[in-house]
Amino acid sequence: MSIRARIAAPSDIPEGTGREFVVGSRIVAVFRTADGWSAIDGICSHAGGPLAKGKVTGNIVTCPWHGWQYQLETGHHCLNSRIQQACFSIEEVGEDLFVTVPD
Ligand code: FES
Repeated sequence: MSIRARIAAPSDIPEGTGREFVVGSRIVAVFRTADGWSAIDGICSHAGGPLAKGKVTGNIVTCPWHGWQYQLETGHHCLNSRIQQACFSIEEVGEDLFVTVPD
């Protein structure tokens, strides 16, 4: 099973930024880049930092706590591909953004 939830309007999240949402039991970091939308686990694998508050550069987010960097398309750590944030489905439908997470 999974949970699909409307989280925001596309205009709520400017390009080059992220925002954090709670969907089901997950903290989801949603990012808008020039390439579109990404939704990854919002809790950094290092020590739990808030990835949605990280700096977005191209398709990479830098954790605001200690600087770990993740690819937004895949959730992979930029230096160690064995570390990966969960990625979630995100859809833009008209004026709504929907994220789907496992239940
Ligand atoms: S908590 Fe994210 S880099 Fe340390």
